[in-house]
Amino acid sequence: MIIVGITGASGALLGIRCIEELAYHNKQIAVIISRSAWPIIHHEMQTDCTSIISIVKQRNMQPELLCNIIEYSPDDFFAPIASGSNQFEATIVIPCSMKTVAAITHGYADNLIHRVCDIALKEKRQLVIVPRETPLSALHLYNLYTLSMYGASVVMPIPAFYNFPETVDDVVNFIIGRVFDQLHIQHNLYRRWDYDEHTR
Ligand SMILES: Cc1cc2nc3c(=O)[nH]c(=O)nc-3n(C[C@H](O)[C@H](O)[C@H](O)COP(=O)(O)O)c2cc1C
Repeated sequence: MIIVGITGASGALLGIRCIEELAYHNKQIAVIISRSAWPIIHHEMQTDCTSIISIVKQRNMQPELLCNIIEYSPDDFFAPIASGSNQFEATIVIPCSMKTVAAITHGYADNLIHRVCDIALKEKRQLVIVPRETPLSALHLYNLYTLSMYGASVVMPIPAFYNFPETVDDVVNFIIGRVFDQLHIQHNLYRRWDYDEHTR
C-alpha cells in the first residue's frame, strides 16, 4: 500500500498522474485529499467531481484498476493508515503546499496527511515530498532542509531539458518518474540521460 496525499498547492495534475501511474503499476493506493486541495483540483482539472476515483474514471482508467484505489477523508484519524501498526510501504505528498511542509517538519499532525507523514518518519518508511512554491523563502528552504535531514526525499517538480520535453505530459511524466525512482519502482516515464542517445 502506497499513500498519496494531495494538498492545496498548484499542480493537481501531478497528484492525479501519480495515482494513475501507481494504479497502472498494480499498486494498492490510499488517497487523502486535503480540504484546501479540492477547490484547486476543481479549477486546474476543470472538473466538479468530488472523488478521485471519479476523476481517474473520467480520465479513462480501466475499471479493473479502480479497485486499487481507496480514498480517506483528511479528518479520518480512525482510518487504518492513521496507525503506525498499519504496514503501508511509503507516503508521497504531491503536490505539497508549504503549509503541509511546515506541519510535517514540526510534527503537527492536524490532518490525516500530516499524520501518515509523521508515521512514515517515525517508522523509518519512505516519505517523498513534492513541494510546490516559487520563489522559496528562507523559512520554506529551512523546513525542506530539515525534512530532508529527517529522512524524507524532497523531489522538486522541476523539469529536465536534456530530454527535450515537448508537452506538459512530458514534463509531468518526468517528475512522476523521478518520484518512482525514489521508491525503486521500475518505469518508462522518461528517457534516462544517455549522452550518445540524446545527441544522436
Ligand atoms: C489557486 C491556489 C493555488 C495555491 N498554490 C499554492 C502553492 O503552489 N503552494 C503553496 O504552498 N500554497 C498554495 N496555495 C495556498 C494553500 O492552498 C494554503 O496555504 C492552504 O492552507 C494549504 O493547505 P493544505 O496544505 O492543508 O492543503 C494555493 C492556494 C490557491 C487558492
